[in-house]
Amino acid sequence: MTATRLRVAGELTVPGDKSISHRSLICSALGEGTSRVRSILQSADVHSTAGVLRALGVRVPPLGDDITIEGVGLRGLRDPASDLDCGNSGTSTRLLAGVVAGSGVTGRFVGDASLSGRPMRRIARPLAAMGATVELPDHGGLPMTVRGAALRDVEWVNETGSAQVKSCIMFAALCGGVEAKIIESPRSRDHTERMLASQGVDVWVNDESVLLHPASRLAPLDVTVPGDPSSAAFFAALAALAPDGELLLRRVCVNETRTGFLAALREMGGDIELLDRERLAGEWVADVAVKGGRMLRGISIGREAIPTLIDELPLVACLAAYAEGETRVTGAEELRVKESDRIAVVVGNLRALGADADELPDGFVVRGSAPTLRGRVVTHADHRMAMAFGILGALPGNEIEIDDRACVAVSYPAFWNDLSAVTGS
Ligand code: S3P
Repeated sequence: MTATRLRVAGELTVPGDKSISHRSLICSALGEGTSRVRSILQSADVHSTAGVLRALGVRVPPLGDDITIEGVGLRGLRDPASDLDCGNSGTSTRLLAGVVAGSGVTGRFVGDASLSGRPMRRIARPLAAMGATVELPDHGGLPMTVRGAALRDVEWVNETGSAQVKSCIMFAALCGGVEAKIIESPRSRDHTERMLASQGVDVWVNDESVLLHPASRLAPLDVTVPGDPSSAAFFAALAALAPDGELLLRRVCVNETRTGFLAALREMGGDIELLDRERLAGEWVADVAVKGGRMLRGISIGREAIPTLIDELPLVACLAAYAEGETRVTGAEELRVKESDRIAVVVGNLRALGADADELPDGFVVRGSAPTLRGRVVTHADHRMAMAFGILGALPGNEIEIDDRACVAVSYPAFWNDLSAVTGS
């Protein structure tokens, strides 16, 4: 059931990981001395984090391939003179809310229509338990005012399984000089833990919790941001769907809290190899080789695996339309509160184009039939929706128009160019 005539071949270096890029700016800003960050993702979301840090008094240079940042230390932030505009970025909002809460400053977080509707009580509650004041509108989104204060130790159960909530609490504790224990199962992405540990913070991790001890200072950072596995996933999917060719995705982050999509694609029958695996500044990196020409089959993905591929699930739904049998994803209700309601939006678009898909309260079911898809995708300005359907649009025979191609700027500004490059179109 692979598409005909498509050949996806060559090498591609996808842009830097978004999660690590946000954290590299924040951790550099809070460090003492000069930090160096190479290959940072230069996308709208990361610009939002840079802008908020500037408003808080950090001299963040324009983003580039190799930047240095003078840290202000753990007590060096100042009250902002303007609102803290996070654009479309939930990661900027939630991580920096923790920074503000622990730093004794006051900030009012604002964002675009999508971000303003996303749930912030999940961070307001632990920050309030630590002693900060958080003011939210009745709908629980933005604008959100965070007033820092002297904080106290916290132990928090991370019920949503969100790495953003975990990192918010960790940054609040770090800046506030207190201890934080966060209990979560399954584990969410652990980039904050890894980066802070590399800067000398005492962070203990086991299967169900993270414990951060108070730190008096943060050493400067020296990091090369690896390629984003959530961006690489689009091209891994396309290469697997192609009847011919081999694509090498260079220097991708293969941290095991992020490799769920590669595992799922392999389980579907995809031919994937990890080459030259090495550890770089606390993160595992490898080249990912994907060959086409295999028949894919439907699989089931349940709650335990969800955090490891949460951002790739719209792509899983799209890929499943070309896999034999049924693909079922459950335990993924968090998808409803992402940049869009990703369950409703992906299923609605698949059905409108002619695929066989149904919503579940906490996921979706797609019955693969290798359909010829025609029509217009309504992205709701959700970057991952535009890219997932962009991949289906590259399959011969499909005629898919994307209503907002420009929204890919949130995480992958060069996506359409890279898509043309690997398909030779
Ligand atoms: C992120 C965590 C995930 C992910 C988001 C980035 C992060 O969100 O969806 O794109 O950098 O911590 P949640 O932790 O809220 O699930």
